[in-house]
Amino acid sequence: NIVPVILAGGSGSRLWPLSRKLRPKQFLKLTNQRSMLQNTLLRVKSLSDVSAPIIICNEEHRFTVADQLDEMNMANCQIILEPAARDTAPAVAIASLYAQKDSILLLLAADHEILDENKFNQAVMDAKKSVVDGNILTFGIVPTSAHTGYGYIKLQQESNTKTYKVEKFVEKPDSLTAQKYLDSGDYHWNSGMFMFKTNTMVNQLKLYQPSLLKSCENALLHSTVDLDFIRLHPSSFESSPSISIDYAIMEKSNLVRIVPLDAGWSDVGCWNSLWEISKKDQDNNVCLGDILAVNSTNSYIRANKKLVATLGIDNLVVIETDDAILVADKSKVQNIKKIVSTLNEKQ
Ligand code: GDD
Ligand code: MG
Repeated sequence: NIVPVILAGGSGSRLWPLSRKLRPKQFLKLTNQRSMLQNTLLRVKSLSDVSAPIIICNEEHRFTVADQLDEMNMANCQIILEPAARDTAPAVAIASLYAQKDSILLLLAADHEILDENKFNQAVMDAKKSVVDGNILTFGIVPTSAHTGYGYIKLQQESNTKTYKVEKFVEKPDSLTAQKYLDSGDYHWNSGMFMFKTNTMVNQLKLYQPSLLKSCENALLHSTVDLDFIRLHPSSFESSPSISIDYAIMEKSNLVRIVPLDAGWSDVGCWNSLWEISKKDQDNNVCLGDILAVNSTNSYIRANKKLVATLGIDNLVVIETDDAILVADKSKVQNIKKIVSTLNEKQ
């Protein structure tokens, strides 16, 4: 039986100004009438042989998460609260230490879309066989661009099972390297979903991230229960280094194997990826809200309260919200994080 773990503590800053500190993207209804977190919960529900998910998020968002679980009739999930963001590796450590020894964890991000659930289900079953043998499985996506926001995985071609040994894992390469990897045809994108046995992960953390593991052990040991939430011990958890699981373990471990996944996966990471997966009009625009787009093409335009009119634009992102307006080149939206960090400095 598989225990799903949903990481929902990201800031989603590349979807500013819609995604905000108090309401980051995983809690927003971006692609349909459900939030990204709720879509993830629904996907988990359709898997066979799974128990109730564990959700790890920032304490600020506890009631948002609880409400969204309630709406899905999934109030039986365990919610673990982080006092501060330390990226994904500490969250993985906490989940691995919290779940029963020898459980199989399926680690999911809360910001993915997967169109073909049957294929995803099948890939999880294929991965499970190799997980039992003590491997860390990742789901690999055939790349379609030299995206620099993903991990790249080179797999060893020969395999007599549905999973492959990983030769090299490179997290977020620069654009020249990403282009080289894409051209070579030997690389997959890391989907950011992983599967492993808890003791496999704890052993790898002991080997590669001992101080992180120690902080997380203490954070759990001194955690408190508040309503139905588990609150990690603040100073212990905060003493952990801030690092993603990709840099902390995946780039280093020799236990990583990959299952190719061809199921219409996408990471709703930025406005461009949201444009890509959304339904477009005859001018290749995505228009949401009260919009008048004249001679405008290939753009993502989203209005909240005001009428937004565009004339003669191409390849732009225009987002109107209550207190901020974004106008950006669609090919540059990876850098919106820079706007957010500049704004944070000013505060
Ligand atoms: N609990 C918790 N705490 N969750 C977090 C934290 C944190 O501090 N930081 C991020 N998360 C959650 C996010 O909400 C998201 O659901 C997931 O962890 C992944 O974080 P992202 O910040 O979205 O990672 P990424 O997209 O830059 O990179 C990862 O995913 C790519 C595919 O989407 C990496 O695994 C890449 O290698 C991968 O290609
Ligand atoms: Mg992401």
